[in-house]
Amino acid sequence: MDEKARTLTAEKTAAGFRAADMVENDMVIGLGTGSTVFYMIERLSARIRDGLRVSGIPTSYQTAIRAREYGIPLTTLDDCPVIDLAIDGADEVDPHLNLIKGRGAAHTREKCVAAAAFRFIVVVDEQKVVPRLSAPVPVEVIPFAVRPVMNQLREFGCLPKIREGVKKDGPVITDNGNFIIDCSFTEIPNPANLETTIARIPGVVESGLFCGFTEKTTVIVGNEKDCRIITSTDIVP
Ligand code: A5P
Repeated sequence: MDEKARTLTAEKTAAGFRAADMVENDMVIGLGTGSTVFYMIERLSARIRDGLRVSGIPTSYQTAIRAREYGIPLTTLDDCPVIDLAIDGADEVDPHLNLIKGRGAAHTREKCVAAAAFRFIVVVDEQKVVPRLSAPVPVEVIPFAVRPVMNQLREFGCLPKIREGVKKDGPVITDNGNFIIDCSFTEIPNPANLETTIARIPGVVESGLFCGFTEKTTVIVGNEKDCRIITSTDIVP
């Protein structure tokens, strides 16, 4: 592993471990998806072995498989429609705690679980904290509507591209059976407006813009030595 990869792993581990340490007995936790959440699962599993009682709601097949491997009891939104805490990664975080998520195509379930939670803990490394959101915005869309949705997205000024599978020919199929369109915008001046505008297109399931959770969001930014915490009280109006 080179120096850069080592630093990144240390940052993700620090953030994931800190989030797992915020979990208390008898909580129901949303288990996000991705590489940073993986470290949270690892640490949570160790705490469960030490006697912590929790159950988790996985946001993807990947997380469900890992959580089972790591001995984390699972439940569902059907059984627990209101939950204590959701812990998840992000691709970008801006100074207003707006997020872009969905690199792993799991953002629809991630948004449902974040919406159901009293608190939303976002675990990231330093590279994810940006002055302005600019990453491509993933949009989950039902396959039936992919052409008209792409046309609409183009009218909003982006370059839409259907996400292709790796080790699978053709489009990525999400855990919900849909396609992902990655939308590159030259700029995103108002992320909340964009989220609402995209959500109104018939055929769109969810975009990876997360702008409605800032009040209940705590961002844990891992660094090599420790973590720094950002909450809504740190937002400069
Ligand atoms: C899954 O679709 C994503 O929303 C991830 O939560 C996000 O991409 C962060 O993943 P990493 O922690 O692997 O960067």
